[in-house]
Amino acid sequence: MLQDLHGLAVSTQSAQTAAAIDRFIQESLIYGSAAEAAIQQAIVADPTCAMANAYAANYYLCQENAIDRQRALSYLRVAQQHKSSATEREQLYIDATSAWADGQIDRAIAGHEAIVDQFPQDLLAVQQGQYHYFYQGNTAKLLEIAEQALAANPEHPDLLGMVAFGLEQCHQLQQAEWIGRQATALKRQNPWAHHAVAHVLETQERIEEGITWMLAVSDTWEACNSMLYTHNWWHVALFYLKQGAIDEVLGLYEDRVWGRAQHHSPKDQVGAISLLLRLELQGVNVDRQWIELASWLQSRIHEHALPFQDLHYVYALTRSNRPQQAYEMLVSMVAHAHGLDILQRRRWLEIAVPAARAMIAHALGNWQEAIQLFKPVLPSLWQLGGSHTQRYLFKQIYLDALHHSEHQPARNFVPQLQSA
Ligand SMILES: [Fe+2]
Repeated sequence: MLQDLHGLAVSTQSAQTAAAIDRFIQESLIYGSAAEAAIQQAIVADPTCAMANAYAANYYLCQENAIDRQRALSYLRVAQQHKSSATEREQLYIDATSAWADGQIDRAIAGHEAIVDQFPQDLLAVQQGQYHYFYQGNTAKLLEIAEQALAANPEHPDLLGMVAFGLEQCHQLQQAEWIGRQATALKRQNPWAHHAVAHVLETQERIEEGITWMLAVSDTWEACNSMLYTHNWWHVALFYLKQGAIDEVLGLYEDRVWGRAQHHSPKDQVGAISLLLRLELQGVNVDRQWIELASWLQSRIHEHALPFQDLHYVYALTRSNRPQQAYEMLVSMVAHAHGLDILQRRRWLEIAVPAARAMIAHALGNWQEAIQLFKPVLPSLWQLGGSHTQRYLFKQIYLDALHHSEHQPARNFVPQLQSA
């Protein structure tokens, strides 16, 4: 039986498929822009390869939008049809991906944990496990699943990047920085390790160091997919924002964040929204950027891939003179929640929906309403996932509402209702 680059058996007779799977794994571990092409090549060479189809399904689910979700489901069906020919590890991966597609995040996580437990060389299972833990707000497990694979891969630079990010999210900053720098020394093209160190430097307010660190490795991000390319530049923009270098931030927004985003991509949209909001909180007028960005949000209104992201969309819709669409999304969030299991439903109804209402209230300049809605849910927002840095935005908005409620009666903003 053929093996992948980590020595794990792959159920295919096609050497071309096995080679393409290797390229997919390598690209995925560095958030490379060629991952999609690689997995497509793997499927073309052996359309019945269960694992190649499962990888494709996982890839498209990760895009977090309805169109790619449909593509994911079609690949998943093929993977399931040929599951009996797959290895034990591959079957676990197919089951974990199926559970995710069904909204059963706990089962998906259990599947990736089982893979890492039995096959710790499988770094895509580690990476996917971290993804799920990230959006569940479970930082301890996010770190643990990566550390669990360390013994089998002690100097793997991509795994070290995952460990570094986990350490940072668990506030073990010194170790996170050391391992992130070590990972980069082992392999310079290691954008996730660069990112982990950026988080440390940002948290420790080492702004100059952060800019120097990121700019010194930023050339390697040219090979990244748009998510990590724009996100790493988003971190650079945050450093400049802390310096008050607004022109630099606006330039990065235009050239590197929104300018290089896939405009239909949820992750890229969220990063851009998050940066615009931070600029606006500093008093910068970004009305033109809001309107341009929000024109790409129509398909988000009824998707609800992740509650953390929906909080951003409703704000952008409101600030771009589309409050009726923000309210439409709010109603849709409630309807979506009622179709979920009890735990997920509570996350949406008790945390995400009140927070989304608070975001809309702030965007409209209804400071008292924003304060009243935000205050009870702020301590629980970690349950919606996102990094500490990303989530700090919500606290900033709350503090901004407090400040305005004391100094300014209402935002000078009158939303114009639109017919569409
Ligand atoms: Fe980040």
